[in-house]
Amino acid sequence: MCVKFRGSHVLSVAQFERGDIEAIFRIADHMEPYAQRRRATRVLEGAILGSMFFEASTRTRISFGSAFNLLGGEVRESVGMDSLSLVKGESLRDTARVLSGFSDVICMRHPVAGSVAEFASASRVPVLNGGDGSNEHPSQALLDLYTIEKELAGRGRNIDGLRIAMIGDLRYGRTVHSLARLLSLFEGIQVVLVSPPELSMPAPLVEELRAAGQRVVESDNLEASITHVDIVYSTRIQEERFPDRRQADLYRGRLRLNQAIYTQYCEPNTVIMHPLPRDSRAEANELDIDLDQNPNLAIFRQTDNGLLVRMALFALVLDVVPLVDKYACEVRWYTPG
Ligand code: NCD
Repeated sequence: MCVKFRGSHVLSVAQFERGDIEAIFRIADHMEPYAQRRRATRVLEGAILGSMFFEASTRTRISFGSAFNLLGGEVRESVGMDSLSLVKGESLRDTARVLSGFSDVICMRHPVAGSVAEFASASRVPVLNGGDGSNEHPSQALLDLYTIEKELAGRGRNIDGLRIAMIGDLRYGRTVHSLARLLSLFEGIQVVLVSPPELSMPAPLVEELRAAGQRVVESDNLEASITHVDIVYSTRIQEERFPDRRQADLYRGRLRLNQAIYTQYCEPNTVIMHPLPRDSRAEANELDIDLDQNPNLAIFRQTDNGLLVRMALFALVLDVVPLVDKYACEVRWYTPG
């Protein structure tokens, strides 16, 4: 298992088989005491993560960095385009060649689809895709699926047979693209794709799901689509991907979920997910804050799980999984009460 991940880039969820997902998730479970500061490890002491975010990010960037720190490594970060030599005309490949000389692993986000793969092709160290345009966001899809697994386990279920509604901007949303691909690896999945017709899931991804034997229904009616699902996965209108941002205004706020709609239409215990950030502006508000008291709102459990999944990915690509406990050390800064 570790041999396959060792030294590999993580660019698309298409590179995974079902057994790989299982391996990542069980290692993520193992990371929990480290993420919760009940244990500490120095397994990546001396290692450097190059964190390159050419596009806005809060949680993905900090989550990758914190995951690396929690394994004992250090993070060197570059945020935005302006401070980089790319503005002087340097190619992504040259940047990759240089930065991979300073780093042991790189995580990267870029607004152009395919750019992280291009960067990786010239990198001498593993590159983890933190989101490339509207293409893919593999670590987010892994943490989403890990969350789904955990939430369903509490109900005595597993991922096979999952019923999920994906809602919002399915055209430009990279998290739903990667999640749809991952779901193709499982059995008997029912997917309801809920979006305005102009923002529907790209046809090749719908085909991939159907070719894998999954049942897919497309709709633009929120209420009718959330009645018989285990998971409601809401997404933000990706205004930054629209050729003209004013076009995004046409779709903002069309598919809103709030507590009243949830109570009226969802089965009890339907889990509510969102990759975040949710757009909390009054005119958008795809997930109302009145859901914050709903125990089935899993959005902050998703972000906690992201840390575990990213720790697992680093441990796998740097091939230190068996050494994490060996280099465990005393926790000095925090004593659990
Ligand atoms: C998502 C992204 O960047 O694709 N955010 C994230 O990484 N959790 C979703 C979004 O920005 O809407």
